[in-house]
Amino acid sequence: MEWGMKNRLSKLIQSDGKAMFLPIDHGYFQGPTSKLEAPGKTIGPILPYADAIMLTRGILRACVDPAETKPIILRVSGGTSMARREELDHEGITTSVREAIRLNASAVSMSVFVGAPNEHQTLLNLSNLVNECEDYGIPVMAVTAVGTEIGKKDARYLALASRIAAELGARVVKTYYCEENFEKVIDGCPVPVVIAGGLKVDSEIEVFNWIHDSLQKGAIGVNLGRNIWQHEHPVAMAKAIRAVIHENATPKEALQVFQQVKSGKK
Ligand code: R5P
Repeated sequence: MEWGMKNRLSKLIQSDGKAMFLPIDHGYFQGPTSKLEAPGKTIGPILPYADAIMLTRGILRACVDPAETKPIILRVSGGTSMARREELDHEGITTSVREAIRLNASAVSMSVFVGAPNEHQTLLNLSNLVNECEDYGIPVMAVTAVGTEIGKKDARYLALASRIAAELGARVVKTYYCEENFEKVIDGCPVPVVIAGGLKVDSEIEVFNWIHDSLQKGAIGVNLGRNIWQHEHPVAMAKAIRAVIHENATPKEALQVFQQVKSGKK
């Protein structure tokens, strides 16, 4: 691996081999998502606990201080909106590699929609992006998107999508956690895998369980947003998740961290 590629990846994946990415890119098709109406305000208190932030160029320019040193994962795909839910998979590449370099991105990310009508186009989008980014030593993180079908996707599907993303050259794959056979997703994917959280759930320990179990099975961490910043206590969630990822905390220990931070004891 070339020096630039290695250097960028080492900013994202920490020396313990783990990573906690904070995505706030949801507005690129959802508009002003709940609790992300003012992204700069939302991330202020939680950013210190993340290893990198994932967002679009528009939000980066408008809402993030250029003096911020947290590594940037730039979302470069889009072109769809919730107003046409049935066409969410019809994405193109929205941001050039030149722009990613200008914005000092440590990686770029884009979605692939395996099994959707536009599967072919999104897989070619990934391949073309990898072709360009490799020239400049920029890692591509492929997001295995499930659209509105989250929860209906099992290990077989997630393994298929993740493996294809890796085959086409993604340096990191973002997928979803599933309770059964998640190890099959990891075992079939030769590049590091991070998990997203999806819609916010009501139980904190459920989130800690997903993350803990996925790490036990070989994931390197998370690219997890709503279950942190839509929570009533985002800092407590961020610190507890960080403890699971970087301090080997069990879900029970993470819950203690959450409760201590929530009650101001930590
Ligand atoms: C989807 O809008 C984005 O790709 C998110 O970055 C991804 O889904 C992770 O965020 P969350 O944990 O909120 O699902």
